[in-house]
Amino acid sequence: MSPWLLAFATTTIVAAILIYSLFKLRTAHSVPLPPGPSPWPIVGNLPHMGRAPHEALAALAHKYGPLIHLRLGFVDVVVAASASVAEQFLKVHDAKFSNRPRRFMNKYMSYYKEDFGFAPYGPRWRLLRKISSTYMFSGKALDDFREVREEEVERLTCNLASSDSKAVKLGQLLNVCATNTLARIMIGRRVFDYGSSGWDPKADEFKSMVLELMKLLGVFNIGDFVPFLDWLDLNGVKANAKKLRKRFDAFLTSIIEEHQISKNEKHQNIYLTTLLSLKDTPQEGIKLSDEEIKAILMNMFGAGTDTPSSTIEWAMAELIRNPRSMVQVRQEIDSVVGEDRLVTELDLPQLPYLQAVVKETFRLHPPTALSIPRIAEKSCEIFGYHIPKGATLLVNVWGIGRDPNEWSDPLEFKPERFLREKGGVDVRGNNFEVIPFGAGRRICAGMNLGIIEVQLVTATLAHAFDWELENGLDPKTLNMDETYGLTLQRAVPLSVHPRPRLSRHLYSSSSP
Ligand code: HEM
Repeated sequence: MSPWLLAFATTTIVAAILIYSLFKLRTAHSVPLPPGPSPWPIVGNLPHMGRAPHEALAALAHKYGPLIHLRLGFVDVVVAASASVAEQFLKVHDAKFSNRPRRFMNKYMSYYKEDFGFAPYGPRWRLLRKISSTYMFSGKALDDFREVREEEVERLTCNLASSDSKAVKLGQLLNVCATNTLARIMIGRRVFDYGSSGWDPKADEFKSMVLELMKLLGVFNIGDFVPFLDWLDLNGVKANAKKLRKRFDAFLTSIIEEHQISKNEKHQNIYLTTLLSLKDTPQEGIKLSDEEIKAILMNMFGAGTDTPSSTIEWAMAELIRNPRSMVQVRQEIDSVVGEDRLVTELDLPQLPYLQAVVKETFRLHPPTALSIPRIAEKSCEIFGYHIPKGATLLVNVWGIGRDPNEWSDPLEFKPERFLREKGGVDVRGNNFEVIPFGAGRRICAGMNLGIIEVQLVTATLAHAFDWELENGLDPKTLNMDETYGLTLQRAVPLSVHPRPRLSRHLYSSSSP
């Protein structure tokens, strides 16, 4: 090793040990920190996170209990791994945890401006939340766009039926359906068309962008936790983020330009029109720039497309693997809907077993396994432990859904539990044993839309088709492994043959 390198390495290590010791001194407190594994020098517990942090953290909870303290590099992290601990953070102390930490990936992707999903809790965030609710998520907005959602599901059904004998990658088609639905609600038009080939290559590019975004947002980027190693970009996050932002920027710029040119009358009461109006006419003293609008759209497309579509893919995989549940859900739908029309949203309240299937899927396969991190604005005490100001909070939604103290046979897919012993339990942030949408002030903004979409599409797929795995694979052997990112993907995409089982006329689209 050259003397220069040796000197540099020695100074770096000494500086790191000094900063680390000072940090420890500063955080010394009479109430103890929650238990957790001993940190390594400099990197702390980063090596404990492994390739599947949700699983690693669930395993640590078995050893140290449901409230864990970690030190990732120089950052305090607390992990909530049981329903009662999550309730403390997200209900009892929610006001102190209503901000999110800003890491490189989020800052860079939002052009170093403020977006929505990671924005500081305050008047600007409140206004953005109000606008999204008015135009997209309120009861009235949901009613106004009911036809849009049903039309997109009808298109999906026709597309699946046209696959003939070819196997389809279900996740791809579900993603197109979710993205076009969200786009029609948010910007007033579809973003993908099915050309004569039945497939738009832009759709593949878009899905890969969202998956890359989720992957990079899920990385525990060493530079965020050990600032003096940031320049090395050890995880490659910076290099990949640069490429990704360019791709997103091109997509979002064209959306905004087309929207401004079209000046379509139908666009007057649309979310994007309202955001654009804030460029010139502030509301409540708040203005938005082009880059801020792009960052907000990126949040929405990122948060609202893969989450419902990957949940539906998991739901279908579970139903194919569990034929008794498939038969039961189909019998229920047949008895309410019959065989001469598709399911509509008005049918959903009469389908309790279908709703239980969706809840059970959210329990076992919550798309955001560790939710989206929060940060402690003030220190506090939880169950006799000190939670330091500035600590990052991770809620292991995945681990809580599989906690044997809450769930009998936690790894089994048993929708009926939500009709029996867990009959009163919902997924909307009130019952902390299953919180796929988080809870409290920063609960998912798109929750109501997400739930309706997952229910409607799952019901339609179960009702309208018989399903066979590609190459006649035995459903019992279906691979259910996950790939970790901010959202959990199937390691092996579900590849299936859909066989129409209802009246033929239902598989040719009547929608524009
Ligand atoms: C299956 C569907 C979905 C799931 C499981 C899900 C899950 C989540 C979770 C866990 C959070 C963090 C909550 C917390 O901090 O407590 C979140 C936040 C958020 N979600 Fe969703 N989401 C879904 C669908 C959607 C949709 C369809 C949209 C929009 C179109 C959306 C937009 C957002 C936004 C904007 C936030 C940030 C809210 C804030 O910070 O105020 N989500 N989501």
